[in-house]
Amino acid sequence: MKDRLEELRTEGLQALGAASSLSSLKASEVQLLGKKGALTTLLKGVGALPPEERPLIGQLANQVKKAFAEKVASVSTALKEAQIAAELDSAGFDSTLPSAPLTLGGAHPVQVITRELEDLFLSMGFRVADGPEVELEANNFDALNIPADHPARESHDTIWVQEAAGETPGLCMRTHTSPVQIRTLREAGAPLRVIAPGRVFRQETQDATHDHTFHQMEGLVVDRGVGVPQMLHAMNAMIEGVFGKHLKTRIRPGYFPFVEPGFELDAQCPFCEAGCSVCKGSRWIELIGCGLVHPKVLKKSGVDPDIYSGFAFGVGLSRLAMLRYGIRDVRWMLGGSISFLSQFSE
Ligand code: PHE
Repeated sequence: MKDRLEELRTEGLQALGAASSLSSLKASEVQLLGKKGALTTLLKGVGALPPEERPLIGQLANQVKKAFAEKVASVSTALKEAQIAAELDSAGFDSTLPSAPLTLGGAHPVQVITRELEDLFLSMGFRVADGPEVELEANNFDALNIPADHPARESHDTIWVQEAAGETPGLCMRTHTSPVQIRTLREAGAPLRVIAPGRVFRQETQDATHDHTFHQMEGLVVDRGVGVPQMLHAMNAMIEGVFGKHLKTRIRPGYFPFVEPGFELDAQCPFCEAGCSVCKGSRWIELIGCGLVHPKVLKKSGVDPDIYSGFAFGVGLSRLAMLRYGIRDVRWMLGGSISFLSQFSE
């Protein structure tokens, strides 16, 4: 029995190895391993053997079975590869030709600037905070001293989140990063230094300088004795960090209900000499809103305005990127065009 098994192994492996097609391989496999195959037939004789020989024969039979299965797998792979190679060859395909060059992605211009500003502010002792894009009306407006009937709400053209039933649950897409001021003040209290970059949303008619989705970065410093000089220092550090010393800026009074006094910082339009569609003919582009945190905002967030004061700013990251890279249309930022984006990959 042992010799016949060995013989079968040799013959079987030879037969499998000689198969010239997948179908003849299959036929040999059935002949050897099938229900009526050679191995099964041979093993029917095991019952007639003396009991002490049976385990040895069983072990050997398993080895033979395994050797056959392995051979079937390797011959089948080789046959399939040969078939593919033959097909490619007859189609005139040269698998040794080099492939088209791979294109690598890169950082988005807004991301490049965000990372730079994070590094800059971290080096000045700030930490990076985050807030949700779907925000409570109470945080986006009320806690920031923007009452229900205030025209500032309209200037923000809010995208409201409505429940299926049609009621307004007091949720909106945040119109600015300022609600992160409220969240961090309530969570961490004073003293505090944070920045909060992120996406904001407005119900906006799109044009070269307005999109429904864009990026801002909030900054907030609350401590004893913080005033306008510290605020101006931070603004200058930010502008110089992104543009060097070349960008011309101006600061003027601006109104935001959550700061007092409030300012707007504009940059001189780099796209024109005498007014264009980007600066709307004014030669200046609004870049940053800022001011000293309104005592009411501090109080509502649990900070005592008799002890602490602070400054806050909100900078348009999309606008910074437009100015630095000479991008004339904010809609390109989120347009997803590869030819646009590939200009910024390093
Ligand atoms: N949140 C304001 C806006 O989006 C900008 C701002 C932030 C102004 C902080 C003052 C202080 O227009």
